[in-house]
Amino acid sequence: MKIKTQHSSTGIDQLYRSKITPQRKMITPTLVLLLIMLVIPLYLFIDSLVPLRPPSKLGLYSGLTRRDFGVEKQHCDVFRGMWVPYPNATYYTNESCPLIIDQQNCLKFGRPDTDFLKWRWKPDKCELPRFDAIEFFEMVKGKSIAFVGDSVGRNQMQSLLCLLATVSDPVDITLNYTSDITNFRRWLFPEYNLTLASFWAPFLVKAADSDSKGHTYTSIMSLYLDEPEETWARDIVDFDYVIVSAGQWFYRPMMFYEKGRLAGCASCGQWHPNVMEMSRFYGYRMAFRTTFRTLVDLKGYKGVTFLRTFSPAHYENGPWNDGGNCIRTRPFGKEEVNLEGYDMEFYKAQVEEFRAASSDINSKISWRRQNKFKLLDTTRASLMRPDAHPNIYGHSPHRNATFNDCVHWCVPGAIDTWNEFLFHLMKPLENRKLSFWKQLRGWSP
Ligand SMILES: *[C@@H]1O[C@H](CO)[C@@H](O)[C@H](O)[C@H]1NC(C)=O
Ligand SMILES: *[C@@H]1O[C@H](CO)[C@@H](O)[C@H](O)[C@H]1NC(C)=O
Ligand SMILES: *[C@@H]1O[C@H](CO)[C@@H](O)[C@H](O)[C@H]1NC(C)=O
Ligand SMILES: *[C@@H]1O[C@H](CO)[C@@H](O)[C@H](O)[C@H]1NC(C)=O
Ligand SMILES: *[C@@H]1O[C@H](CO)[C@@H](O)[C@H](O)[C@H]1NC(C)=O
Repeated sequence: MKIKTQHSSTGIDQLYRSKITPQRKMITPTLVLLLIMLVIPLYLFIDSLVPLRPPSKLGLYSGLTRRDFGVEKQHCDVFRGMWVPYPNATYYTNESCPLIIDQQNCLKFGRPDTDFLKWRWKPDKCELPRFDAIEFFEMVKGKSIAFVGDSVGRNQMQSLLCLLATVSDPVDITLNYTSDITNFRRWLFPEYNLTLASFWAPFLVKAADSDSKGHTYTSIMSLYLDEPEETWARDIVDFDYVIVSAGQWFYRPMMFYEKGRLAGCASCGQWHPNVMEMSRFYGYRMAFRTTFRTLVDLKGYKGVTFLRTFSPAHYENGPWNDGGNCIRTRPFGKEEVNLEGYDMEFYKAQVEEFRAASSDINSKISWRRQNKFKLLDTTRASLMRPDAHPNIYGHSPHRNATFNDCVHWCVPGAIDTWNEFLFHLMKPLENRKLSFWKQLRGWSP
């Protein structure tokens, strides 16, 4: 009964088993035998249709460990660790990946130091596996991945595009869906029928400019905290993976609306001295609550939702709009940095909402839908990378840079590790479906 013991620690079996009555227990061995007789020939047949892969990439089908069944993952928090030197070349460069946008193409615009490329994330108690583009494609072929959020969310998609483009060329299919090619992008990898898409929703919830002087970096905006931004809410239902994030936009002056009425505002005294001041962290919290609720309640949505946690900026030597910069050339060590202040408040608010939503979904919905919410907890690792932003080495085609960019991340660079985390989190999700087959495979000679 190898099958049962290997599965049991997932917790799914306990739920599943509790439904097995004594009578059904007696017929279980017979059923299992029947299944095996039916399934082995079928599986061998399917296997013969799988095209040959280079030997080094057979990892998906051989060398199974307990890890493949989610047994080990409890013991190691991959998000706690430190950056260690790793002189090996990055997965790709500005030459090998033609898709890097100028804002994040630090090499192209002459960043003189390349040491920021020579680090890898080392979790305290285990290793974070390297990104394997072929294995990634095998896991998600025929599927679709959406990044919902602001330009930092899109930044992660750019990194994933380049990581995957080392193996297969993507096609830009944005215009098949929209004419707004800055804010909404779609890429298709035809060889694997994999779609990547980015949805512009910097507040996640519905938002509008509300400054009589027009939109600037510091103008006031209105947020409708209980209404999801419809740009994503309308189109997200068919996506298999949805990675949500939000960040720096919540530093703005903001008016908060709930149930259609003005509830208060943050940093708005200059515009509306008589409106009640509320915390920006409250607005941030509610934006995530609304987002998660929308996804939980969305009819027909079968995707896995990831919260990619707050991405810290690293301005030093002045404020972001007055000379602040990020000129460090190496990561912080563990003792040099602490998650605190505004970063901590944002992080705490979103993770609390995430926990509430995921426990809600896990208690309400059958075992089959467990693990539909996953935490992509990039905040600490990113906080330790003050050296990985474009600073002055990023060029926007649309405007003259009036300040240094210590918000986005150079591509290639530390942000590739966000996708190593993503790869690592996706593996057990996809492998769970395959694990029954894999174990049968383990029995065959
Ligand atoms: C660097 O890459 C080589 C070849 O890909 C590999 O054999 C070696 O183990 C890598 N070094 C480290 C420190 O991972
Ligand atoms: C890549 O970066 C180098 C400098 O590191 C630069 O000389 C080269 O023009 C860049 N190539 C592209 C295609 O951006
Ligand atoms: C490609 O994947 C999409 C879902 O992402 C699916 O609707 C479509 O039928 C697939 N196309 C092919 C040719 O398999
Ligand atoms: C996108 O549109 C082009 C031109 O209209 C068409 O040839 C192509 O098949 C479309 N691709 C997808 C993936 O819909
Ligand atoms: C950028 O700056 C240059 C020189 O200062 C100026 O000529 C140009 O019009 C500016 N472009 C934009 C888009 O503001």
